[in-house]
This record gives sequence, structure tokens and C-alpha cells, in this order.
Amino acid sequence: MGSRAVTTRRSFLAVAGLAAAGVAVDAYTGHRPQQAVARLVRTAGGPRQRPQEERRQPGDRPDAVRLLAAPATVDLGGRAVKAWAFNGELPGPELRLRAGQVVRVRLENRLPAATTVHWHGIALRNDMDGVPGVTQPPVEPGQGFDYEFTVPDPGTYFYHPHVGLQVDRGLYGPLVVEDPNEIVGYDREAVLLLDDWTIGVGPTPEQFLARLQRDGMHHAQMSGMSGMKHSAGDMTTGDSRNPLGADAGDVRHPLYLVNGRPPSSPTVLKGRPGERIRFRIVNAAADTAFRLALGGHRLKVTHADGFPVRPVTGDALLLGMGERYDAVVTLGDGVFPLVALAEGKQAQAFAVVRTGRGAAPRAGVRPAELDRWLLTVADLDADRAVDLGGRPIGRTHRLVLVGDMQRYRWTINGRAHHRGPPLQVREGERVRLVFENRSPMWHPMHLHGHTFQLQRAVNLRPGPRKDTVIVRPAERVAVEFEADNPGRWMVHCHNAYHQAAGMMTTLGYVS
Ligand code: C2O
Ligand code: CU
Repeated sequence: MGSRAVTTRRSFLAVAGLAAAGVAVDAYTGHRPQQAVARLVRTAGGPRQRPQEERRQPGDRPDAVRLLAAPATVDLGGRAVKAWAFNGELPGPELRLRAGQVVRVRLENRLPAATTVHWHGIALRNDMDGVPGVTQPPVEPGQGFDYEFTVPDPGTYFYHPHVGLQVDRGLYGPLVVEDPNEIVGYDREAVLLLDDWTIGVGPTPEQFLARLQRDGMHHAQMSGMSGMKHSAGDMTTGDSRNPLGADAGDVRHPLYLVNGRPPSSPTVLKGRPGERIRFRIVNAAADTAFRLALGGHRLKVTHADGFPVRPVTGDALLLGMGERYDAVVTLGDGVFPLVALAEGKQAQAFAVVRTGRGAAPRAGVRPAELDRWLLTVADLDADRAVDLGGRPIGRTHRLVLVGDMQRYRWTINGRAHHRGPPLQVREGERVRLVFENRSPMWHPMHLHGHTFQLQRAVNLRPGPRKDTVIVRPAERVAVEFEADNPGRWMVHCHNAYHQAAGMMTTLGYVS
């Protein structure tokens, strides 16, 4: 088989190569990779790797975008807070490219802590993925790093550090990859970054985490986890009041933001009546799922995690952390509230869409759409162009998600952080991952470097392509992907607090 030959050409690397690349020491364990890791395949050659071939000297890249990670005073609508930000902006600057183009970013770290940048959702070359101790050394204070990679797939993405709770200090920004063969019709677009916020108005993220670890969770212990529900794809929206179960979050952030603005001083998006606006919505929060609606309008969802779906129209949309959706709306005439309800937290983020005259809606308004048809992944099918189709499964990995509520320790297959050997895959295989949630909380599970397809127990409809999927309490969710991007990749929960408390593992290519 052709894929076999490719594997051989690419599998040049073992521990020695890893060490030479300076990434052999695991940042969390301080250990060198064990035996099982020795056969891991790293990236080399192939379309994703092209930029490497024209290696430049650091700094010798006049066209590189500069991202400066540093403490900065950000204006939360009249309230100045000292946060950490990219280029002093909240959100960080928008990076916009066309599919197939090369991203060149010079990261400069002026934070008082080591950092990296991860390009969430992009199927890029492994050594640019921004995971310290796995794909690169951490970028120390005063140091820099040159990121350079091809963006293969169009879509809505974002970037953030892959270190501790840094994302919850304000370090995130949008990354949009335009489609040269765009099929969606729209007149204008707006990128919406949703966030939960505490810096300067509440405890620090580290204080939140310390409190959780000290006091444990108040979660009711689940008795007898029998009767797992199968596959998200088959579930109806269930209890639309609590679509994620009774416990939707661990932390109460004092504020919820749309594009860095609190409800008291909201972003105002302007348009004309009758125009079609494409929202690119990113949930960049640490611990908050949002239910988003635009008062007086319906949402036509066209993309999930960057990839096209068969358009479906509903009233509201559920987004877990790390998820992105594109939705097209035909604007009415007037002033409308755009509300992102923080699930289970009696709070909301708020923006205003204005196409005509009139007084702005109140920040606390709750549009009726929020309680009508709530769109979730269960409603979405992959567009035919991105349907992976059926193929024999090369291997299946089960990922059991468990939380120790007393110590606030979250594990995958009994392990915290990415100690232990990676889940092995071989290039060219179809791989199935089964997320089995045996904890009383939902988890937005995210895979780096690939876009999987959601599987349904009865595969009459092709599930959407995604890189982040909500796994509800007691639910089992299966996804499949083509193992076509060698390297060592994170698989983790995108709840920043669960991740910091251990809920991550890795997937590694073997020859
Ligand atoms: Cu956006 Cu590994 O994360
Ligand atoms: Cu989680």
C-alpha cells in the first residue's frame, strides 16, 4: 500500500532525534520518553512540512506577524484591569489567511512565565503545534519562537498558549482561514470570541484552581454508572434547560465577554436590514459553555469547528470551550440583543446588533430564542465534500474520563497529565476514539492535528467533522479520523481547569 511507503520515508526518528530537536524532556514529568515512545514517528517531508525546507535565521523573516505576549492593561468597558494579552489587545489580533497559505508568526515572550502558542484546530506540522515538552521547548521569559506552517483547511480557528491557565488571563485571539472556493452566501462577517473573565475583578485563575483542589468538588457522587448512553450523535437535545447535565461548570467567573467587552459596555455590530451576516463564533472560555442567540432572528449553522455542515436553521446554539461554529443570519431592521448565556451560571455575555434606529436593549435581556430550538452536534451532518465515509477501522482507543472529586484530579484512562505512553496509531490507518465519560461533569474533548468525524450508533447520516466534541455525563461518544499527520499530539479536555488538573493524554504515531 502507498501509505506504507510513506510511513517508511517519514519514520526517521527515535529518541536520539527527539533529543536533538530539544524536545525529549517531558515538561510535566521531567522524564525522558520511555521505551514505548522510542518508536514514535515525528514529522518530515510532505505537504504540511514545506516551510521547513526554506529554513531561515531567527528574525530573518520580514513578513512575519509579531505576537507579543506580555502583561497589559485592558479596558473592560471603562474598567482598566491588568491582564496578560497578545499585543496588548483583548482578544489578540485577528490572523486572517487563505487556505494553503503559510503562517509566519514571531512570538516574543515578555510574560513573567514560560509560554507557547497553540493553533487550535489547525492540522499543521507537529513541531509547530505549540505544546511545551511535547512539540517544542517552552518559550522562556525574554525569549522568542518562530512559528511557520501551512494552513491546509479553511475555517474558523483560534490561538492560545498551551501552558497552565494562561488562556484564562486573556491570552487568545482569532485565526480565520478563508476558503478560496467559498460556497456560503453572505454580505459581511463578524468574528465573535466568547470568554469568561476573572482577572482584575475576581480571584486569579490559579486561586480558583487552588480552591478547587483544597475544597474538592461539591458534585453529588454518581452512584452506579451503569447504563452509559451511546453516542452524542443520536441524542436529542434532551433537557433543553440543562443540555450539559446538572453541573455545567466548576468556577464562577464574575464577567462574561464578547470580543473583550462586558455586558455593561457591549460590542456593537452594525449592518443594514436584509444583509446576511456570517458570524464566526469561538468559545475561548476556560470553564463556560455558552448558549448563543440573536433576539428576533434565527441562526443558519454552516460550519462546525471550521468544516462545512449541511446548513441547519435553529434558534440558539450550544458551544463548549474550544468549539467554533459559523452561522449566517439575515438581519432585520432595528436593534437586537446578541446573548451568550453562560450555561448553569445565571449570567450572560452580551453584544448588540444594530441595523436601524432605536434604544439599545438592556444587558440583562433574555431573548425568547434562547429557550426555543437549541442546535447541538446532534442536529448537524457533515457536508458531503468533507464526509470521511466508511472505511475499515485500523484501531480503536477507548478514553475513560474520570474525576476524583475530593482532590479535583481529572484523568484519562486512570492517568493524569500525559504521563504514561501515548495512544499509538500508524500512519494511513482509520482510527476510532471512544470517549467514555464516567464523571458527573461534561467534557469538551479536543484532539490536536486532525479533524475527526462524529460517529453515530446508527450511521444513517454522516456526523459533522470536528476537533472538539462535547461528552456529557455518563455519555459515550465515538469519533473517527484518518491518521495522516505524524507526530505526537495532545488529546485533552478543553476545560482549562480540568486540563490543568490532569485531563490530558497524547496520541503518537508509530512505525
Ligand atoms: Cu485549544 Cu490543546 O487546545
Ligand atoms: Cu473536562
